[in-house]
Amino acid sequence: MGTNEDLVSKLEWNNNIKNREEKEVLARKIASYVKNGDVVSFGSGTTSFLAVKEIGKRCRMEHLKITAIPTSEQISMLCDYLEIKTAELGDYKINWGFDGADEVDENNWLIKGLGGALYKEKRNLIQTPKVFILVDNTKIVSELGKKCPVPVECDMDKVEYVQTQLQKLGAVSCKIRTKVNSDEFFVSENRRYIVDAKFQKISMDLEKNINKIEGVLENGLFIGYDNIEIVTVTKNYINFIGERH
Ligand code: A5P
Repeated sequence: MGTNEDLVSKLEWNNNIKNREEKEVLARKIASYVKNGDVVSFGSGTTSFLAVKEIGKRCRMEHLKITAIPTSEQISMLCDYLEIKTAELGDYKINWGFDGADEVDENNWLIKGLGGALYKEKRNLIQTPKVFILVDNTKIVSELGKKCPVPVECDMDKVEYVQTQLQKLGAVSCKIRTKVNSDEFFVSENRRYIVDAKFQKISMDLEKNINKIEGVLENGLFIGYDNIEIVTVTKNYINFIGERH
């Protein structure tokens, strides 16, 4: 059996990680921001997965004690494996957080949730003073929603109604998400379906209007959140990170 350090470096994602090299760079950068005693909101998705692994390494090697507030069961399990203490949202005051995104535009508006974890991601973000959004260059777009649908998490028995209402808001397609390589519907950890709704135009009030539909739990638009700091591989954010130490 190898050392714990070997075990951490061998942890893998179920599927291949797209654009892994850039995501690894982002993961190392954000791991360097951690300091002893921090309470950190941990995002979900592959970029966050790599970031948590790097943070786990640092905590182990430098004997740092931090508390993570995870945004999915998967990331929570990874924390347990890496022996990073976890807590629920509301248990502690969060110092800062990180997460990935599926698209980001020049206004820092985001689409998130292609990995299915949008509900806790948004709840945590609202309670966190500063959230670093780690994006590889494929995520930066000139117009939000041109390539990516807006994920909408909704009650299973309301899904058809939700699809109709999304069309009224301008959705040109509304597909219930299926599992990878399967016709079976994907079920979120909140026991909901996710409708992937494609819009030709994303307006400022769309996030709120989608959430007004009966049966919708949450959607993956993040519009106008000023606690977001976008972190890219090329952006020089080292100075910003340095401010904390
Ligand atoms: C999780 O459901 C998502 O919101 C992710 O944060 C987002 O999809 C980015 O994922 P990757 O880091 O895997 O690209």
